[in-house]
Amino acid sequence: MAKQSLTFLFLLFTLLTTITESRLTPNFYSKTCPKFHDIIRDTITNKQITTPTTAAALLRLFFHDCFPNGCDASVLISSTPFNKAERDSSINLSLPGDGFDVIVRAKTALELSCPKTVSCSDIISVATRDLLVTVGGPYYTVFLGRRDSRISNSSSISADVLPLPSSPISKLIHQFEVRGFSVQEMVALSGAHSIGFSHCKEFSSRVTRQNSGYNPRFADALKKACANYPKDPTLSVFNDIMSPNVFDNKYYQNLPKGLGLLESDHGLFSDSRTRPFVELYGRDQDRFFKDFAVAMQKLSVYGVMTGRRGEIRRRCDAIN
Ligand code: HEM
Repeated sequence: MAKQSLTFLFLLFTLLTTITESRLTPNFYSKTCPKFHDIIRDTITNKQITTPTTAAALLRLFFHDCFPNGCDASVLISSTPFNKAERDSSINLSLPGDGFDVIVRAKTALELSCPKTVSCSDIISVATRDLLVTVGGPYYTVFLGRRDSRISNSSSISADVLPLPSSPISKLIHQFEVRGFSVQEMVALSGAHSIGFSHCKEFSSRVTRQNSGYNPRFADALKKACANYPKDPTLSVFNDIMSPNVFDNKYYQNLPKGLGLLESDHGLFSDSRTRPFVELYGRDQDRFFKDFAVAMQKLSVYGVMTGRRGEIRRRCDAIN
């Protein structure tokens, strides 16, 4: 009997420790790194002022970190002679350097104030939210206490994991649904394309296609903008031509007019499962902001490691 009670107490203790350890909280660093939020805010403000493309760069980097295998900063790890890392997989090669750079800067400043305390995955989550706010997007609380991955393999990143603009809407819906995101949440998150740009490579085959769904004048403008592609593969176009640097609901208003840049953007309006949400967000920016904030908060805790799993990296681009 005494043995049974001891076993029960041990199991209860293990369960309670697991629950406590795995709980993320908004004030995780309030005692261990009180200047955590100030340091991130200073870093992102300086970076965004000098390089205004940073907000969009980091928003996409955050998505590419979280969506495949959880928010664990695995996308930041550099390749070594023995390991090709996620960031060198073909779909991630277009991730702009400024997204990586702002995290390196924040981590460097944080290591000086509170060494080996703050995870790179927490830095990405908070810096993404703060940068989103600087371009006019909604604020949401970021829960903290993530740990960083010790693994990053390019082979784990494929078209089955990260969405491609050429994928049919059914496939995109499936990719989000298997990760617990509804159709409505997928449409809300796609509103991230309210800022930033896409390279000609991502939409040029659509420009020349009959029944592309493009507004004819927009298609002509895109043909001109990409005329020198593929000689110059750096050529790119704003995702939201109406307000490229402001986070707002114009992205959704563009879609019915044939002004959606990527095939996947246009598909959200042409498919009857997603169209009602495109129309809703196009009409109601407050509703878009509310739903985007909730979905981003959900994405930011997707597949996270806490407690004793993972590690706190000293540098964000290498495992300890
Ligand atoms: C629904 C499926 C999605 C597809 C097919 C898709 C695809 C793409 C592609 C092809 C680009 C252009 C990349 C380049 O040429 O450099 C892009 C850019 C971008 N994507 Fe997505 N994306 C999707 C969802 C998302 C989500 C959920 C987010 C964030 C929550 C996001 C954030 C961004 C941002 C901010 C950019 C602009 C990046 C920059 O300016 O540097 N995307 N996306």
